[in-house]
Amino acid sequence: MATAGDVGAQSRANYDEAKVGPYTLPDPLRTAEGREVTSAELWAKTRRPELLRLFETHVYGKTPKPEAPLPVVYEVVSENPDALGGKAVRREVTIRFGEGPDAPHIDLLVFLPKDASKDKPAAAFLGLNFDGNHSVSHDPDVRLPTSWMREGQGKAVVDHRATEGGRGGTADRWCVEKVVGRGYAVATACYNDIDPDFDDGFQNGVHPLFYRPGQTRPDADQWGSIGAWAWGLSRALDYLETTPEVDARRVAVLGHSRLGKTSLWAGAQDQRFAMVISNNSGEGGASLARRNFGETVADLNRNFPHWFCGNYKQYSDDVDGLPVDQHQLIALIAPRPVLVSSAEEDRWADPRGEFLAAQGADPVYRLLGTDGLLLSEWPAATEDSLSKGTIGYRHRPGKHDVTPSDWDAFLDFADVHLTPR
Ligand code: GCU
Repeated sequence: MATAGDVGAQSRANYDEAKVGPYTLPDPLRTAEGREVTSAELWAKTRRPELLRLFETHVYGKTPKPEAPLPVVYEVVSENPDALGGKAVRREVTIRFGEGPDAPHIDLLVFLPKDASKDKPAAAFLGLNFDGNHSVSHDPDVRLPTSWMREGQGKAVVDHRATEGGRGGTADRWCVEKVVGRGYAVATACYNDIDPDFDDGFQNGVHPLFYRPGQTRPDADQWGSIGAWAWGLSRALDYLETTPEVDARRVAVLGHSRLGKTSLWAGAQDQRFAMVISNNSGEGGASLARRNFGETVADLNRNFPHWFCGNYKQYSDDVDGLPVDQHQLIALIAPRPVLVSSAEEDRWADPRGEFLAAQGADPVYRLLGTDGLLLSEWPAATEDSLSKGTIGYRHRPGKHDVTPSDWDAFLDFADVHLTPR
């Protein structure tokens, strides 16, 4: 498994603004046939589906339709009405795709505010985690994940399982007490439950559930791991729709880094997500592919060949040939609120490129009657940075990470945009 550090070292990444070079972004408001998109109707009926198809075919891959409907079973495996020192209700649910103990499954962990009820359902943040559900809080009773886990950063693929040692290890990245204290539910699952994050030719995880008879790996235009993780988020939302204490019409999907790329793709496809948060998602996420700064499409394809679809490989040396760019991914979320959050020292992710992509989505948000992005210039990084337009933007000092102050911004943004409908 490559890390930000070692993949960066192999790359010939450009970090010099003067060397970025000119580029022309594809117009989100012009159809492939050259027709200008001047109405919300034309956007919804023609341009949005066209862009979605282009992202499916060339970037993330299509989510296959199963031969027969996938059987889904929900099993509540634990419930604690007095979790987090009495501040929350904790529920663990296994979402199983098929019968029997070997059926692929997602273990979803949900923390609900104490007073959430059918009559007063809470809005929720839903996101995948890297290190297992037991890592996101210090709750001693959350079950250890059973799926394959990464063994720290930078280690080769080994069959590693989570241990007690990792409990609470990413609690600062999730801030569940704070989130629940602000009246929101938190739901999370480990991304490895859906597809373990290494290149095994798509033999494990959920991909094989969708193979045609005789098919052994996804076609060049079918989903990779990001597509599968995004699909898993939608399945978690299906479950939340059955949870009376959660208002499933007010669920924000969020993710950090590769999981920020995933939250954007999930939100672009599944319009039930009421809000999307991308944290430091970088190349293949919120930042512009054509802007030559930090990580490149070639880097992604070399280091993480399983994340995107096969067709994406052909753009490693031809980024201008991509029929889309990432501002159009953000535009696919319109008119729903989206927050793009960048970190100043995260140059590999190209914070300015993330801002410019948010700006590039603005005409679509305006066409659909929202205020769009309320910034005309890339703002300096400040700890309390948050522009609260329907396209929100944050630029904070510091490294590639999710920090408690990021959560303050996510919550402030949600307080503005995730209000009861
Ligand atoms: C690497 C990768 C990035 C990715 C990040 C992460 O740095 O190059 O594209 O966002 O890992 O997910 O941690």
